Amino acid sequence: MEDHQLVLYRKYRPKSFREVKGQDHIVRALISALEAGRVSHGYLFSGPRGTGKTTVARLLAKAVNCEQKGSGEPCNACGICEEFLRGSALDLIEIDAASNRGIDEIRELREAVRFAPHRAKRKVYIIDEVHMLTREAFNALLKTLEEPPKHVMFILATTDPEKVPDTIRSRTQHFEFHRLPVSVIQERLEELAQKENIKHEKEVPHVIALLSEGSLRDAESMFGQLLGIADKEIITSEDVSILFGLPKAGLVAKFSSALLHGDIKTAFAVIEQSLEQGVDPKMFNKMAIEDLRTALLLAINMAYENELKGTFSDERIAFLKNLAKKAGVKKIELALVPLLEAYHSPHTTVLPQIPLELAVLRITQTDQNQLIS
Ligand SMILES: Nc1ncnc2c1ncn2[C@@H]1O[C@H](COP(=O)(O)OP(=O)(O)OP(=O)(O)O)[C@@H](O)[C@H]1O
Ligand SMILES: [Mg+2]
Ligand SMILES: [Zn+2]
Repeated sequence: MEDHQLVLYRKYRPKSFREVKGQDHIVRALISALEAGRVSHGYLFSGPRGTGKTTVARLLAKAVNCEQKGSGEPCNACGICEEFLRGSALDLIEIDAASNRGIDEIRELREAVRFAPHRAKRKVYIIDEVHMLTREAFNALLKTLEEPPKHVMFILATTDPEKVPDTIRSRTQHFEFHRLPVSVIQERLEELAQKENIKHEKEVPHVIALLSEGSLRDAESMFGQLLGIADKEIITSEDVSILFGLPKAGLVAKFSSALLHGDIKTAFAVIEQSLEQGVDPKMFNKMAIEDLRTALLLAINMAYENELKGTFSDERIAFLKNLAKKAGVKKIELALVPLLEAYHSPHTTVLPQIPLELAVLRITQTDQNQLIS
């Protein structure tokens, strides 16, 4: 299991900007800066975990030092690129601010930046989780950022940009990384499966993409875990459910259908059943939301079916089409709003199913006439 995870993780970290997914706004800006030779001395990369901050930081460090001038992309062939690819470049210094928070560490860094690079044009410091620095450390860093030696470049990365002082932010170019859309993650997993020659049931990449909350790293690592347990011909949706605690097949469908029929009893029973299966109610809710949203899109336009064919099984599509036809746009909307509110309600540790149950009550009690009879 460990093996496959490692393989996926190492093997597929992008080596060029064009392989970076879903962050086009950032990649485009960096490529033009590289082409124009106007790369800044300080960057701040912020965004959720596993969305490409460290990946892009390392790419930028490599590209700015690549000996082959051209497109902005690193050539991946010159001596410098090779050093970076091997992970042995002395001029790339990665610091984890979570464990080097203090003034002493930053003072050391201020001393060190004065020395010229070993081989590269620019010494690149990547400071990860930079929001963890103490105030004194930030002040010390600010002094360096105000007058950086020509041969250095700082890339600060953080999942929590609010905690980075304005003074630091205004000295850097700030790029915000986005959560990756389900479709992008799904595509990436399909690509990995093909490259690794892994067979899977059609819905598997989609379900993992949905689970990963926009983090490609989480998605890749979940996929790796699956490869570990599935020493069989094909990875099934059942494998995904068992490994990641998802509701058994059909349970979410039963719930969505009960909601639209105003059937409180069944809806509550299904929530109970999913809890017994060890499913996180929030995840269950998310899957129901997806069901209803897909039904909504079908109710608006049945031709949407064509876009579902690559992702969902025929049974699931037939079920959703039927639901869409019977319920219609208005009724689905009526059910969707409370579910969304429940999804965003603060997490309760006592009886975590309560937000979902309250949503069921709201949906089924609002106006019985509006539900499918
Ligand atoms: N935008 C992306 N495009 C392609 N691969 C990505 C992307 N984001 C993440 N990955 C994959 O996930 C792995 C981890 O990504 P990375 O280390 O860049 O995330 P991060 O944003 O720095 O996360 P953290 O905040 O946890 O440090 C990469 O090796 C790569 O395989
Ligand atoms: Mg990182
Ligand atoms: Zn190169």
